[in-house]
Amino acid sequence: MSRRMYRVGGIAMFSREKQKALDILEREHQVILGMLSVLDRICSTGRPIDDEFLEDMEKIIAFFKEFADRCHHGKEGALLFPALEVHGTEEVKLAVKELSDQHVKGRKLVAQMKNALEEMKKGNQAALEGFCKSAKEYGDFLRGHIAAEDEDLFLTARSLLPDLEQDRLVREFERVEHEEIGQGVHERLHRVAHEMSEKYRD
Ligand SMILES: [Fe+2]
Ligand SMILES: [Fe+2]
Repeated sequence: MSRRMYRVGGIAMFSREKQKALDILEREHQVILGMLSVLDRICSTGRPIDDEFLEDMEKIIAFFKEFADRCHHGKEGALLFPALEVHGTEEVKLAVKELSDQHVKGRKLVAQMKNALEEMKKGNQAALEGFCKSAKEYGDFLRGHIAAEDEDLFLTARSLLPDLEQDRLVREFERVEHEEIGQGVHERLHRVAHEMSEKYRD
């Protein structure tokens, strides 16, 4: 088999093995879980709310909006879930509906964090408490959501979706990253996740 180029979470790489759609989404889960740990550390260490802190918080909120929601949940909601609705049992369709509704809830919690951040930027230091309350709720919620996908729905999807359908999803994921998210955005968000994980570590 000749070497072919694939993209994993926006990063170009060569491999003799074809990338699988569910592997791509699971790797994105790991990046998202890393940023949830960053949020935990920020809220447990009582850092001063200075310009640098506010700038980092802006980057972190942008990551959850663009990477976790628009890109990752976008791929699931617009591509994986509809494929499962076509091929799945009633039980699978119900699970998809529940997970899809959870994406909406996640969006609301990120909006709450963003509102609290805007308050902090106006000088309201007490807003950090509300930010961290929403961050805790978001972290607990999103970890449960990711576990339900990794440990249940994705396992079902791997056996349910024909290989050709999974290959089509990989191509569609690439198209979404290029055409809908924008050239280079996914890579930039990966770098932000790496930068924040290095900066806010135990
Ligand atoms: Fe999801
Ligand atoms: Fe997911």
